[in-house]
Amino acid sequence: MQAVCRELRDDGYVVGFVPTMGALHEGHLSLARRARMECGVVVASIFVNPLQFGPGEDFTRYPRTFEEDCRRLESEGVVVLFAPEAGEMYPAGAVTTVTVAGVGDRLDGASRPGHFTGVTTVVTKLFHVVGRCRAYFGQKDAAQVAVLQRMVKDLNFDVELVVCAIVRDVDGLALSSRNKYLSATERGDALVLHRVLRQVEARIAAGERRSAVLIEEARQVLDGAARVRLDYLAVVDASTLLPMETTEEGTLVAIAAWVGSTRLIDNFVVG
Ligand code: PAJ
Repeated sequence: MQAVCRELRDDGYVVGFVPTMGALHEGHLSLARRARMECGVVVASIFVNPLQFGPGEDFTRYPRTFEEDCRRLESEGVVVLFAPEAGEMYPAGAVTTVTVAGVGDRLDGASRPGHFTGVTTVVTKLFHVVGRCRAYFGQKDAAQVAVLQRMVKDLNFDVELVVCAIVRDVDGLALSSRNKYLSATERGDALVLHRVLRQVEARIAAGERRSAVLIEEARQVLDGAARVRLDYLAVVDASTLLPMETTEEGTLVAIAAWVGSTRLIDNFVVG
């Protein structure tokens, strides 16, 4: 992969890179499409990264649809796919990790200790394999974007991060590989995440900017969804992920909740 990407650059191509864990849906494909519009050539990776799953999380049952993924990437014009085995990414004896302090411990980093070290370590390795590129990530994982932006800046990666809008189902549910886990009832319950965010957005548009009030009002909507367990609802600075007392343009409003045994996330940026 390293040699192929180097050759593509030597041939004068700007390389677009779409890192994924597979089980691809329209959200992933939107990244590939945008990369194709903006780069001479697009490469992708599929790797279900064991390092970013905590003990007791869904690593073993994470959906794997490799053949179908290959077809879809190919039809989006992705020319090279890097799909290593875990042993190739983490050979025996590998002990080096990359941790983004502070921002990596907030939101999902707080709920899933070690998660972002898994993400930043694998993305570091992928960036070293692909080399200089434009790398495409989804706003769906807003905390991941904040952590990776910090990492790229702090460690001088020769990579330009491009953040792409959240792709949703017609009813508003943000697309996620984990939506496959949901029963029909849970799929309905899951819509409350989007509903809560729309309400907060409407209240901000109506002039309410106090985070505590917005969160309290949103909680009342969540109280009506008995089968949904809130992990966090946060009003934070989009870069540091630190809480904001009042919202302003660019503030991140993010939610994570358990629907049955499935943890879902969603967010929007004010303004
Ligand atoms: P994965 O969950 O497969 O997501 C791959 C990319 O697709 C991420 O950048 C994610 O934000 C984006 N994405 C997922 N759902 C989306 C949606 N509905 N709309 C727009 N973009 C969406 O994120 C990861 O994998 C991993 O952590 C990874 C970065 C590959 C490192 O292992």
